Amino acid sequence: MEKIIVIDFGSQYTQLIARRIREAGVYSEIVPPWHPVQEFREVKGIILSGSPKSVYEDGAPLPDRKIFELGIPILGICYGLQVIAYFFNGTITRAEKKEYGFKELFISEDKTDLFEGITSGTQVWMSHGDRIEKLPPGFKIIAYTDNSPYAAIYHPSKNIFGVQFHPEVVHTKDGRKILENFIFRICKAPKNWEIKDFTELKIREIQERVGKDKVLLALSGGVDSSVVAKLLEKAIGFNYYPVFIDTGLLKLGEKARVKKYFGNNPNLIIIDAEKEFLEALKGIENPEEKRRIIGHKFIELFEKEAVKLKDEVKYLAQGTLYPDVIESRSVIGPSEVIKSHHNVGGLPEYLPFELLEPLKELFKDEVREMGKILGLPPEITERHPFPGPGMAVRIIGEVTKEKVKLIQKADSIIEEVIKKHGLYNKTWQVFPVLLPVKSVGVKGDRRSYEYTVVIRAVESIDGMTADWFRMPYNVLNEISTKIINELENVNRVVYDITSKPPATIEWE
Ligand code: XMP
Repeated sequence: MEKIIVIDFGSQYTQLIARRIREAGVYSEIVPPWHPVQEFREVKGIILSGSPKSVYEDGAPLPDRKIFELGIPILGICYGLQVIAYFFNGTITRAEKKEYGFKELFISEDKTDLFEGITSGTQVWMSHGDRIEKLPPGFKIIAYTDNSPYAAIYHPSKNIFGVQFHPEVVHTKDGRKILENFIFRICKAPKNWEIKDFTELKIREIQERVGKDKVLLALSGGVDSSVVAKLLEKAIGFNYYPVFIDTGLLKLGEKARVKKYFGNNPNLIIIDAEKEFLEALKGIENPEEKRRIIGHKFIELFEKEAVKLKDEVKYLAQGTLYPDVIESRSVIGPSEVIKSHHNVGGLPEYLPFELLEPLKELFKDEVREMGKILGLPPEITERHPFPGPGMAVRIIGEVTKEKVKLIQKADSIIEEVIKKHGLYNKTWQVFPVLLPVKSVGVKGDRRSYEYTVVIRAVESIDGMTADWFRMPYNVLNEISTKIINELENVNRVVYDITSKPPATIEWE
């Protein structure tokens, strides 16, 4: 398929660039800097991403110089602009003033196709320390800001563009238009990306590959595994085994939901494992230890089912998404493990099955769209992410049955109120955290000494960074009142106003 390639130098916005291009209807892939140039097939344009590095720094990621000789249009963004200047003998220095935030962009008279239809003075978003000091020979300035004389540059005969600002973020007012100008006017890319076509393609692919064989699927009830289940159903009917493990640490009503949407499959396997998980977690307070125990227990139980079915089943389907694929080949070196994520996709490789990963080219919002096309209701396709270890990482300290009951109740209160006020789809996640801290209060004229519930609500694009959600006071008040009234043992509700970083979204 013809595509736009994004070379990833480790910017937190790399995925956003590819998503914006796909939203414009053009297929886009992310490749690491070491991706061989010989494999750039059907590439209509190349975008060089940003990076937390500086081009002259040791270990700075750089592409193969040959990309500039392919005759394919190139757009460098932020660090990508500096990469261009570096290869074409410009000079880059640390700016005296780090330019961060909103800027007015003044477009030169020779505006080129990149700024077609855009008015000088438009708002752009900057985030950089380095800047070009000497323009590389052969390049022209096509836009500037009060602090960046080379905010956008252009090489007329080579069709190479560079911008210092970030067109992919929403803060750049005409960002979408600038990217569309690049992909359509400059790269002449075809509109070739629609989830509907891709869904049909995947159904055909599964049919051809699986044939009459059978498939095993760990079904969590979340968006990804539910979409895989529906895809399988469309492709091979009920010739697949969805296995749902009720860890007892899920949201209220999860098992019923899974039965409601997948119970018509006679092969649905439900494992009630609440007791086993609680037993394994007894006395454990350390967050990583909790995560490890839950991950292992999950695999152990799933494996038991898998072994029973191993003569019948040939494939294991997983809801791996494109960001998982990209993150598994880290560009700027291994980052420190902050949390050992567990999700139902992470199953052992030694199981004797062939892997089926039909979502591995897709971003989360594309998976949601695919879910809609496959007929799943918003109750599933619009769901907030839910961590594999479930409520266990939302109960600080030891997990007990009583605490799980409390947090589940608080969770359903929060979800109900948020949905009632139309805020569910405006937030990335909203959930409670139960603290092991007791404080003094007064309930019904009597002294109380009870637990504290934290409300955590964040906005985010991909969960990698997040901003705390500015929740209206009346909604906070409603949640707080309901929690205090309906939950025994809780007499205090507080709101978490930290962003990520420095905090993470989950508390453990
Ligand atoms: P943190 O807490 O690291 O979370 O800021 C980022 C996003 O990941 C979710 N999360 C998980 N998802 N398995 C998952 O599938 C996990 O173990 C896990 N831990 C955190 C979290 O809810 C947030 O959306």
